[in-house]
Amino acid sequence: MIVLGIETTCDETAAAVVERFEDGRGKILSNVVLSQVSEHAAFGGVVPEIAARAHVEVLDIIIARAMEQAGVGYDRIDGVAAAAGPGLIGGVIVGLTTAKAIALVRNKPLVAVNHLEAHALTARLTDATPFPYCLFLASGGHTQIVAVRGVGDYVRLGTTQDDAIGEAFDKTAKLLGLGYPGGPQVEKEAERGNPGRFALPRPMRHRKEADFSLSGLKTALRLEAEKIAPLSDQDVADLCASFQQAIVDVVFDRLRAGLRLFRARFGAPNALVAAGGVAANQAIRKVLNRLAFEVGTTLVAPPLELCTDNGAMIAWAGAERLALGLTDTLDVAPRARWPLDEIAAAEGALRRTAAYK
Ligand code: KG4
Ligand code: ZN
Repeated sequence: MIVLGIETTCDETAAAVVERFEDGRGKILSNVVLSQVSEHAAFGGVVPEIAARAHVEVLDIIIARAMEQAGVGYDRIDGVAAAAGPGLIGGVIVGLTTAKAIALVRNKPLVAVNHLEAHALTARLTDATPFPYCLFLASGGHTQIVAVRGVGDYVRLGTTQDDAIGEAFDKTAKLLGLGYPGGPQVEKEAERGNPGRFALPRPMRHRKEADFSLSGLKTALRLEAEKIAPLSDQDVADLCASFQQAIVDVVFDRLRAGLRLFRARFGAPNALVAAGGVAANQAIRKVLNRLAFEVGTTLVAPPLELCTDNGAMIAWAGAERLALGLTDTLDVAPRARWPLDEIAAAEGALRRTAAYK
């Protein structure tokens, strides 16, 4: 089964073609991503209106390129998938409407994919990870610990009460005058900094539930920076290192709580799966590895280009749903807000999911 996938929920315009084989394995035939980072950099973050307009301008070309690189014509495509949310609504409308048009004209089934579900299922494309597994999703917009039990069957075990982890990295970078996106810059600065110089809080530590809260950490960092301003290069590096260490400690503690909840409710997970741009951070990857080892499971961290937003994950989620007969009608609505655990799994799908573990 071959599916075209379209992603436009944030600042990447992406399209991809993915094949899903009978045995449940997957293969990426093409994966084209155009990042809008340069168009938003001057504003220190994504500007929704600019993003939506940029998607309109390039999406047709990106789709044509994905089809060409895959070397398949529309006659070989079994379905068209688009991220229908959650995300910036202008961009979501662009991607979903385009997918509807293709589905209508080419007479193909449409699959409206939840962007978070696509992140959640990527490990099955890259590593054929069997259900159930524990997902740690950390990006600029999301920080979640999720029990992934089947296609359409997600239980959120923890989330952030305020900022997402990627957002905290971006705000730290902005505060310290580093560029956007902030994660990679903060990580680079942290390498030559002293992580023990500033005593920053580790919010929610030792709580039984697996939620995050990062705004207190952000404020504490700002106060430390203000105390010693003007900042030298070494001050910036030390602040970055201290911030990153606090995040690493928080991830370890919160995810350990999440894995405990997972085990208590669903038994041992088959893997700890990392997704989202933050999973690119080497210090965070290291702590995820340590944690996986500690709880006796393995870490599945898809390659970086599949951790960040891309079309292949949408096409793959579309293929997984299509394989279960889960399609959408052309009047399906785009959604700015769409929590993972609100995904209504068709009753039959759940039963069949169990069969194709
Ligand atoms: O998944 P993603 O590409 O886009 C969405 O937000 O959906 O994630 C981007 C986020 C940004 O906040 C960025 O600062 C963060 O991931 N990020 C990192 C690193 N690389 C990207 N955070 C920490 N360390 C990194 N190396
Ligand atoms: Zn994402």
